[in-house]
Amino acid sequence: MPGNRAVAYKGPHQVEVQDIPYPEFELKDGPGVNPANVGRKVPHGVILKTVATNICGSDQHMVRGRTTAPVDLVLGHEITGEVIELGSDVETLEVGDIVSVPFNIACGRCKNCKERKTGVCLNVNPDGYGSAYGYVDMGGWVGGQAEYVLVPYADFNALKFPDKDQALEKMLDLTMLSDIFPTGFHGCVSAGVGVGSTVYIAGAGPVGLAAATSAFLLGAAVVIVGDMNAKRLEKAAAFGCETIDLTKGEPGEQIEQILGVPEVECAVDAVGFEARGHGGDAGTEKPATVLNSLMDITGSGGSLGIIGLYVTGDPGASDEAAKKGSLSLSLGTGWAKSLAFVTGQCPVMKYHRGLMNAILHDRVNIAKNVNATVIGLDEAPQGYADFDSGTAVKYVLDPNGYL
Ligand SMILES: NC(=O)c1ccc[n+]([C@@H]2O[C@H](COP(=O)([O-])OP(=O)(O)OC[C@H]3O[C@@H](n4cnc5c(N)ncnc54)[C@H](O)[C@@H]3O)[C@@H](O)[C@H]2O)c1
Ligand SMILES: [Zn+2]
Ligand SMILES: [Zn+2]
Repeated sequence: MPGNRAVAYKGPHQVEVQDIPYPEFELKDGPGVNPANVGRKVPHGVILKTVATNICGSDQHMVRGRTTAPVDLVLGHEITGEVIELGSDVETLEVGDIVSVPFNIACGRCKNCKERKTGVCLNVNPDGYGSAYGYVDMGGWVGGQAEYVLVPYADFNALKFPDKDQALEKMLDLTMLSDIFPTGFHGCVSAGVGVGSTVYIAGAGPVGLAAATSAFLLGAAVVIVGDMNAKRLEKAAAFGCETIDLTKGEPGEQIEQILGVPEVECAVDAVGFEARGHGGDAGTEKPATVLNSLMDITGSGGSLGIIGLYVTGDPGASDEAAKKGSLSLSLGTGWAKSLAFVTGQCPVMKYHRGLMNAILHDRVNIAKNVNATVIGLDEAPQGYADFDSGTAVKYVLDPNGYL
């Protein structure tokens, strides 16, 4: 049996590559594993040799110490891998297949999975709603920023790439199917983006850039991306987005300069609860900023795709209410304008096959747009630190030298 090495959370602003057990077809006790999940048999699983696994803003919330993630939690929910072992109940996959794994772990058997709400599977997380690999309060499934990882309910979850050589060739694009490309696309679909739409996307991190890419794919007429990070805004401008520098103030005025009106039809939050204020407040965290400003700048009857993450507990919040996940929202604005809100984990499976085809048939350049950059597993600590400082990069870890 080979060994296994993985990226683990060691405390605020610290991650480390360490030895962990090679996976078995059973969820063993470990950091963050819910007692009700210990000893859970996984005959429906496969063991993957990791081909690519990305660092995400969602990991950063934990690594910044803004959650209750336990020390030694193995990180990594964005996983693409080669099947090297099959559980006894697996029927449709074979050893040697290269698969994309949705970050949501879903059983395929519960009411929500049957309705394709795979972000809130009822059967995988005794801690709460829905699950993901390597994530706090999500049942304790071991993360995939590792050489090897167990993927449960593999027939249901895994998306097999049709051709192995082609998959490896296009891996920097295909690796985005495990999370940010479907998530950005979901944000746009939820915001009602279609042919001719005007769209504002808050956040030019990898998820915001994936949302902007998706807005064009859906036919948007104008895609406006706002952030206070100039390098990230340059990336958005490079593929045709209009950009808004939020250090200059609220987005409405700059939207008016672009569109002639201070409103868009569709808005996407790709920031979440660590949002900073606008204008003079751009250096300070104001967790409700994006939600309130999106309500201001979205035309009446419009929709908000809220893919940025919000939490029920934030030990690092500046005020008592936000520590419990309560934000000061001007919901009256939303009500008066009949705005619709869609929140939560992206149900990746709804979108990943179609987006895979768009990649394989050269309809989209997601890797280029998010500036996918490969680093080795041992470089993960540096990658986390760089990403935290706001580099305009989406880091892809290459634990086994496939890339
Ligand atoms: N819903 C889902 O399924 C899902 C999936 C993946 C990621 N996410 C979440 O999406 C969010 C973005 O992820 P990412 O990897 O791009 O993270 P990131 O931290 O790299 O990017 C966030 C960006 O928001 C910017 N920002 C801060 N305040 C802002 C404001 N008021 N207006 C506009 N921009 C502002 C930051 O400068 C930064 O560039 C995170 O909250 C992440 O957890 C959700
Ligand atoms: Zn992610
Ligand atoms: Zn389920």
